[in-house]
Amino acid sequence: MIHIPKSEYSRRRKALMAQMEPNSIAILPAAAVAIRNRDVEHVYRQDSDFQYLSGFPEPHAVIVLIPGREHGEYVLFCRERNAERELWDGLRAGQEGAIRDFGADDAFPITDIDDILPGLIEGRDRVYSAMGSNPEFDRHLMDWINVIRSKAHLGAQPPNEFVALDHLLHDMRLYKSAAEVKVMREAARISAQAHIRAMQASRAGLHEFSLEAELDYEFRKGGAKMPAYGSIVAAGRNSCILHYQQNDAVLKDGDLVLIDAGCEIDCYASDITRTWPVNGKYSPEQKAIYELVLASQEAAFNEIAPNKHWNQAHEATVRVITAGLVKLGLLQGEVDELIASEAYKAFYMHRAGHWLGMDVHDVGEYKVGGEWRVLEVGMALTVEPGIYIAPDNQNVAKKWRGIGVRIEDDVVVTKTGCEILTKGVPKTVAEIEALMAAARTQAA
Ligand code: GLY
Ligand code: MN
Ligand code: MN
Repeated sequence: MIHIPKSEYSRRRKALMAQMEPNSIAILPAAAVAIRNRDVEHVYRQDSDFQYLSGFPEPHAVIVLIPGREHGEYVLFCRERNAERELWDGLRAGQEGAIRDFGADDAFPITDIDDILPGLIEGRDRVYSAMGSNPEFDRHLMDWINVIRSKAHLGAQPPNEFVALDHLLHDMRLYKSAAEVKVMREAARISAQAHIRAMQASRAGLHEFSLEAELDYEFRKGGAKMPAYGSIVAAGRNSCILHYQQNDAVLKDGDLVLIDAGCEIDCYASDITRTWPVNGKYSPEQKAIYELVLASQEAAFNEIAPNKHWNQAHEATVRVITAGLVKLGLLQGEVDELIASEAYKAFYMHRAGHWLGMDVHDVGEYKVGGEWRVLEVGMALTVEPGIYIAPDNQNVAKKWRGIGVRIEDDVVVTKTGCEILTKGVPKTVAEIEALMAAARTQAA
């Protein structure tokens, strides 16, 4: 399995500590266990920031980074080994494992945190934490601070500055290392295979969930623990619902099916959308819309390179789509005016992409100092223009209504432009029709 090497977690912790102000401490909790119902838990997914700094996969853990601490800068609080619990729930690293396998300098039982952590915070000027994202943990943090405050008369020095960790950490996460790109390529490869399998399986009479099952099969077979987000399998008019999740309608002859799905490998997401005809052949109207979306995506790729700013790719898609909609008679007027008045938003109402990484909608600022961010090598993003013609749009001829098309690929900015991570899935009309025809011939 391709994964982030241990050395990289250590490099990340050092890089973060190097950016922290002198005499400070950073504290991050693991993701909480989420209850699904009664005593059944959701599949555990580590918090992305916590994972980024530790690779430690267990719940009930807290990372403490204390630059310059004599007895070790990286302290991990985690669960103790417990033969009975491990018999039921699986192995735990314990404190020994935290040090041996996860690079902690020091490790303590999580049950001792109230006794130990105030002592680690005491005397530090600043506390870095993800304030506001975990209210329960924020309360714990204040309890630990109050323990120190209550001993002030004995000479204890509580910290006097609280700093949001997000700014430093999320900027680091925005720039993907070679190891991260390798993992993202693997997630993309598996997701590409999943889309191909769903294309091959597509038949009228099946349900949207039948194709979701094909996706899930490839995800799990490829080693992915879970999808990076709820798979969208939207046939017919459902393709016009941007985040459709029901996935239970019947696939009908003559309809398109839009699939937006990607798996997660070692907590890195992929995010692919393809839109194809259920019966393997695009109608003239479906093809016209599809090729317009594809042309807009091509235009966007040309705007992704170092020194181009974040919004250029989006602007390129808006121009191509607006001009194309005028040509098809779906919009009337001057292209520049239609762009200025945002008339295209009746058909293209979302942005051309988002940062991609450990979170599918990844962290990182889109603007800096009020200006669109300039792209740099290692930034990863999606490129996902779409056109959605509402089933009840009375302003267009009936033949267009209910067509929804999105095409989405994942890219990483390189020195000369961008690498498309998801190019393993067919994308032109000819490629998709050929793949689907071959699958039908084989099945016959
Ligand atoms: N899958 C959600 C998105 O494309 O942003
Ligand atoms: Mn996306
Ligand atoms: Mn998507």
